[in-house]
Amino acid sequence: MVFVRNDDLLPGMCLARDIHYFDNASRSSAVLKAGQKLTDVQITQLNGSKIDGAYIDTVRSEVRVISSINQEIRDEAISNIQSLADNFIDGGKGVQQSDIDAIGETAQQLIDGLSSQKDILINIADIKMYDDYTYHHSLSVAIMSIAIGIELGFPTAMLNELGLAGLLHDIGKVAIPIEIINKPGRLTDEEFEVVKLHPVQAAAHLKERNLVNENIYRGIVGHHEKMNGTGYPNHLKGNEIHPYAKIIAVADVYDALTSNRPYRNPSPPNEVIELIMGSVDTHFDERIVNAFLRKVAPFPTGSKVKLSNGEEAYVMKNYPDQPLRPLVAVVGADRTYDLSWDLNCLNIVITELLEENKHQKLINM
Ligand SMILES: [Fe+2]
Repeated sequence: MVFVRNDDLLPGMCLARDIHYFDNASRSSAVLKAGQKLTDVQITQLNGSKIDGAYIDTVRSEVRVISSINQEIRDEAISNIQSLADNFIDGGKGVQQSDIDAIGETAQQLIDGLSSQKDILINIADIKMYDDYTYHHSLSVAIMSIAIGIELGFPTAMLNELGLAGLLHDIGKVAIPIEIINKPGRLTDEEFEVVKLHPVQAAAHLKERNLVNENIYRGIVGHHEKMNGTGYPNHLKGNEIHPYAKIIAVADVYDALTSNRPYRNPSPPNEVIELIMGSVDTHFDERIVNAFLRKVAPFPTGSKVKLSNGEEAYVMKNYPDQPLRPLVAVVGADRTYDLSWDLNCLNIVITELLEENKHQKLINM
């Protein structure tokens, strides 16, 4: 049993004790009995009442991963990116203003959704369940980039530019032969030279047609630059790299390495986060990595994880400053570990993400 504050209650959590509360909507007292699994409606009622939280039976709870993005908006985003890409590739008519307008609207919808959920950590797991990598990758990167921009206090106009750059950053890849993009094993030097063209190809096409401004252009072109100047295409260093490009770079690497690709199995989120943290200053901008770590939950609430002591557990709550050390409830035992704050748990780490979106539920944006 664990006490969970109102803000952290999730549908599917099972009450360990009765709750007596005053329901503001019906102006009457109400009771929820121990053993009941909470629903959205009940959680809303509890949020409107004066109680602080509820005792939750961690053994019988079936918490679900909450999506940070609405399915309809995701589908529309993917279809907009796809039509733009179709116009971009050889034989297409070239990207049109109407394509950019549609993508701009998508970016705005993502911003509206993410801004209204300021305190929610972005659950990346739920936007990673598709096969069609490039388009879904573009969407994941845009969502993470906007979340980082919000965390950095960007005004709406900048978030919109950043969202557009995120959605468009890899469009150049659709012009690269699929055998190279999906090649299992190492690319030859020649093949890598072809891959390296993708940021410039897309951005130049859009700029020539006056479809993007200088900021968006630099955001797209610079997303493979590194802080120490070893990136491509222009070997820019430090602040020569546009802030949008620096943000997209972090989101890009996180999403690429945690995704399933023909040539590589996905790496565990904790390993990728450690890799990103270890590449601060050489590869990534520290301020941006810190903002990223405050916004992205590698082990979303509701996911099942394996612990270093051999036990399996459900993630009950994430702490923005400690993305790798959430509050977890041991599967089949009446025991929780607060990996962030409990000194007795210092030697326990999460070693594996076992199930990330089995009980997926969407929330409205
Ligand atoms: Fe790229």
